[in-house]
Formats: sequence, C-alpha cells, structure tokens
Amino acid sequence: MKQTTLTRRDFLRHTSLAIAGVGMAPAFAAQTTGRVVGPNEEIRFAVVGFRGQGGSHIKSIQSLREQGVKVRITALCDADREVLEGGVKVFKDKGEEVKGYTDIRELLQDSNVDALSIATPNHWHSLGTIWAVQAGKDVYVEKPVSHNVWEGRQMVKAARQHGRIVQTGTQCRSSREGIATAVEWVRAGNLGKILAARGLCYKRRDTIGKVDGPQPIPPGIDYDLWCGPAPKDPLTRKRLHYDWHWVWPTGNGDLGNQGIHQMDIARWFLGEAELSPAVISIGGRFGYVDDGTTPNTQVIVHGYPKAPLIFEVRGLPETRGSNKMDRYMGGSIAVVVHCEGGYVLVPDYNTAIAFDKQGQEIKKFVGAESHHANFVKAVRSRKPEDLHADILEGHISSALCHTGNISYRLGRLLDPEEIRDRLATNSFALEASERAYEHLQANQIDLLLTRATLGVALKMDPKTERFLDHPAANEMLTRAYREPFVVPARV
Ligand SMILES: NC(=O)c1ccc[n+]([C@@H]2O[C@H](COP(=O)([O-])OP(=O)(O)OC[C@H]3O[C@@H](n4cnc5c(N)ncnc54)[C@H](O)[C@@H]3O)[C@@H](O)[C@H]2O)c1
Repeated sequence: MKQTTLTRRDFLRHTSLAIAGVGMAPAFAAQTTGRVVGPNEEIRFAVVGFRGQGGSHIKSIQSLREQGVKVRITALCDADREVLEGGVKVFKDKGEEVKGYTDIRELLQDSNVDALSIATPNHWHSLGTIWAVQAGKDVYVEKPVSHNVWEGRQMVKAARQHGRIVQTGTQCRSSREGIATAVEWVRAGNLGKILAARGLCYKRRDTIGKVDGPQPIPPGIDYDLWCGPAPKDPLTRKRLHYDWHWVWPTGNGDLGNQGIHQMDIARWFLGEAELSPAVISIGGRFGYVDDGTTPNTQVIVHGYPKAPLIFEVRGLPETRGSNKMDRYMGGSIAVVVHCEGGYVLVPDYNTAIAFDKQGQEIKKFVGAESHHANFVKAVRSRKPEDLHADILEGHISSALCHTGNISYRLGRLLDPEEIRDRLATNSFALEASERAYEHLQANQIDLLLTRATLGVALKMDPKTERFLDHPAANEMLTRAYREPFVVPARV
C-alpha cells in the first residue's frame, strides 16, 4: 500500500546533485521565442499531450476561433507518435497548417507559438510550464498543476518572474454565475458561519489488472520523453496511458485527479489562501489486488482553524457488484459546504444549490463560461488577476492533495479499533472514516483482514510550505528529478 521507491540516501544524493547542477546533462534553456501579441493579432496555441483531455483543449480553442476570437492552433506535441500523427492529420485534412513535435523542447523554439495548452500526465506539468514561461510563452496547464508541493511553488515563482500568464485547468472556476456567485453569497454570510467544507470524490475506479513482469512499451512512444522527470522504470502495468494516475511516480491517485476539482471548490468557499496548518489522511486500496498503488478509498482532513476542509474519496460502488455510487447529502462528485443556517451543495461543475436547515432549497446558482476564453482574455490584458484560476490558486489546491497523500504514505496499517482510538480527538476524521468503513463493509471488505492505513498527523508552516518536525514528510515535498528533466531550483 505504501510505496516509496527511493531510499532517503538516494533522495538526498539525487536532489543535492540536481540542485548543485553536478554531473548533469546540460539543463535545457529555451531561447526566448515569445512575443508581444498585438490587439489584432491571433494568439497562436500549441496543445501538448492530447490523447485524452488535450483533445478537449483542441475543441475548446477551435470553438473560440469559430466564434471569432482571434486564436489559432499552430502546433501539436505528443510523446506518442501515433497520437501526434492522428492529431496532425485531422488538421491537414481540413487544410489547416499545424506543426507536429514529439519533444516539448523543440516546440519551445518555435516562434510561431505564443501559448501552450498542456494536458500531459501530472509529472510533466511543472517542468513543461516552467520551461515554457522561461521561453516567453503563456500557459494553460491541467490540474493538478504539480506532482509535488515544491514544484508547484516553483511554477508560481516562474510565472511571476517572467511576467507570464499561467492558468490552471480547474474549469469550475469559470462557473461565474454559478459557483463563483455562490461562493460570494456564502462568504457574505447568507447562511451564517461556515462550519466545514467537504469535498466528495465518489467515482467508480476499477482494477487496472495485474501483470507478472515488465511489459513492452507500446510502439511509437518516446518512453524517455514520456517518463521525463519520473524514473525511467520498466512498465509494470497493462496500460501505459491513463493508468499512470494510480502509481506514485507519475500520478497522485484520485485525490489529485478528479478530487483536485472538488478540493479547489471547497477551499474557494472557505476563502483559505494558504496550505492548511494540519493534515491527516486515512485510507487504502481495497476490493482488488492490482498494479495500482494509490488509495481508492481515502479520507483527508485539513485542519484550518476557522473551519476544516474534509475530503472523501471512494472508488468502490455503493455495494459489492452494484454499479451505483454512494451519495452524501445529494452529491457523489460534489462539494458540501456546511453552514450554521443550512448548507450548499455543488453537485457538478456549473451549479450550486443552497438549502436551509430543514433541507428546503432556497437558492440555485447556475452558469459556465469557457475557461480557455478567460485565459485568452488574460493573455491579452497581461493581468494575472484577470484569470479565474491563476497558477497560485492551482498550486495551493494541488498541494492540499499532495500533503494529504504524504500523510497517507507515511502511515501504518492498523485494525479499525486502533484507528478509532487514535482519531478520538479528531471528530471530523473519525466521523468520515466511520462512514468509509460502512461503505467498505457494504463492499464485503473485512477490515481486520485488509487493514486500512492511518496516516501521520502532520503540522505545516503555511508560510514556508514545510512540515514542522518531520524530516521524512519534508523529503516528500519534492522528488529526485531524472536528468535532464530537472525542475530548476532557480527559475
Ligand atoms: N480539467 C479536467 O476536467 C480534466 C479532465 C481529464 C484529464 N485532465 C488532466 O489532463 C491530463 C491528461 O490526462 P489524460 O486523461 O488525457 O491522460 P492520457 O494519459 O490519456 O494522455 C496524456 C497524453 O500526454 C502525452 N505525453 C506524455 N508525456 C508527454 C510529453 N513529455 N510531451 C508531450 N506529450 C506527452 C501522452 O503520450 C498522452 O498522449 C492529466 O493531468 C489530467 O489530470 C483534466
């Protein structure tokens, strides 16, 4: 369940070498190929990584173009040649010129590109973004913006230092008439004080299968580029693509996948602008034994002093064999904001519904705008404050997922009774984990046989984004980057 492939010594050796720049291949340094885009000029996009979500980026940029917004896709980049060639062909067939790249470093030398729209796996987000802003490009980058806490902060620094616009792909932030208006309404005190904000990620996640040895890398993939900052280990799962979410070297589990959206919305309601000063997580990977290592069932409690942020991940169904998912106060992939005078449910990406204490609906907020359109607007105005999801917001919400995972990964397998005893002073964590146990029981999981992990209760200094008195946890704030794919200490 816990998987730390690096020893402490390995880690220190790698990071100190990387930071000192010793023994490394020369670091990539893009020439500045950005430009000042004139008011009547097109913003020229490159979409990076488009097997899945990057395809939606292409659609969204194309749709803006069809609406008369001055944007154009001039380049595509993917480490998988099959994906790349398929994408380039679609453009060529329509008579549109687009350049194809497998290596983002070559793409960054292209002076016909003003902005990158990045939808690679998580472990590439930070380095790709930092290299891009150093090359003078603006960036729209998918969530979670980072694979670890430190590299997220480096992205914020790089964006500011190079004066670039960097938008996080948390598109719920562009639900202005919907969620944004509800946030203001709640923060104005219309339901009294907020007692807690709860993110829910009850989303079915099936086994990814189990292989008995290294698998061939699918043809056409530049595996060195695909791995990038992560170790270039043999592939030990069936599918290279997508299932990287469920192993720690490349993914962040469902907390950092679907969950980051709801984590971000919950934090938005709370109005918290920093990491939490205390975090604990409980969980496990239940119901199947496969090649995944991230938990499919997890509770995380961020102890903000004003009101806690509670998070619940459930990947198994309502009951064993069912295809229905649990619901909590009306939501499955949702946020519930518990207030003195009632509660708000955010059941999807564009809606927020306020209820009174009796559960009567009192107000509904609905609406969504294009998140890429908002990015384009800020690229023109050059004002990060015009962004609905500036990189700083993306960093903090992504980091809340990472610190939750760090608590979990440092934890121990324990019997339910022992976990109960140890959570006695944390009523929020206790209550959410009791309900998680009931859910696991409905899936016929015997917690005495397959025990859950009780994570370490960690304290953090939100100003320095470092844990207090916990060297092992602090080590997990960053990673050993594989040369030459090193997120620079000096951006
Ligand atoms: N905002 C949303 O609602 C939303 C929805 C889905 C996915 N996402 C995010 O989008 C990202 C991609 O997810 P996905 O489901 O499309 O994953 P995926 O594995 O299906 O696709 C990733 C693509 O990136 C390519 N790639 C890998 N390394 C690359 C590199 N160095 N340069 C260029 N291309 C590279 C891969 O070859 C692949 O084609 C993830 O970070 C995910 O969290 C966001």
